[in-house]
Amino acid sequence: MLVTLADILKKADKGNYAVVAPDYTTLHSVRYQLEVAEKYKAPLILSYTKHIKSLCPTKSWDKWTRIILDECEQYDIDVCLHLDHGTTVEECNEAVDSGFTGIMMDASAKSFEENVELTSKVVEYAHKHNVSVEAEIGHVGTAVEGTYLMKDEARAHLTQPEEAKRFVDLTKTDCLAVAIGTVHGEYKGEPHIDFELLEMIDKLVSVPLVIHGGSGTGDDNIRKAVSLGIRKINVFHDWIQPSQLKTAEIIAQTPKALGKIADATRDIIYDVLGHWFDITSSGNKG
Ligand code: 13P
Repeated sequence: MLVTLADILKKADKGNYAVVAPDYTTLHSVRYQLEVAEKYKAPLILSYTKHIKSLCPTKSWDKWTRIILDECEQYDIDVCLHLDHGTTVEECNEAVDSGFTGIMMDASAKSFEENVELTSKVVEYAHKHNVSVEAEIGHVGTAVEGTYLMKDEARAHLTQPEEAKRFVDLTKTDCLAVAIGTVHGEYKGEPHIDFELLEMIDKLVSVPLVIHGGSGTGDDNIRKAVSLGIRKINVFHDWIQPSQLKTAEIIAQTPKALGKIADATRDIIYDVLGHWFDITSSGNKG
């Protein structure tokens, strides 16, 4: 059943678990993610990023979204269809119009004032259409971008608790992505998650908290983050990387092996997400 981002996270907050938010690429990956979520009875935030809009198989993005929405309705679990990392108001509003039930406006690389202005515009439009919004304060980067793993130098990019509270009060965002030391994609070395900072943010901020860059963060770190108030975790690299490697391996061995590639991708998505439902305690909650 399709639900809004706010509703799926409200339940997670009550139940003290986090909802897994995997990015999808093709219709196959949508189906496998929904299948495994239903198998584990876990709620799911299916996430789409414009970086992979080129994989849209129909002429119009609107039509592609309707196909995914129709797929979501066929599974007996709570599902939110979410735009991941929207960067313009137009793009976010387009996603609202085409039926997404959650939207991320990511203006985290801009100034505080600009971030407030852009996020507020998206919130105003989305809320009018009963769609919820995620925004980000502080900035979750990638390991290659800089110094995120060097504890002391990383602080400039991390979320400041007072600023996070002010941001939520001003924008009325439904949930907030925070930078506490995770990175998108592969970590270079050991992840250093600032749990003290997370506790401070959670004390001040009333809306559910989100982390991006879930992949490779480590089971113990994820369990602890969930115990301290994280309610949505984005996961992409953990499933796409092994799928791509396996695809290359299969093609090298058997060039005409489309069926094998689909089976291998399904097995990887089942394994990886199954594990994620376990460490976020979201199994049997959908
Ligand atoms: P990972 O690829 O590191 O899991 O990050 C995914 C993400 O945060 C997408 O927004």
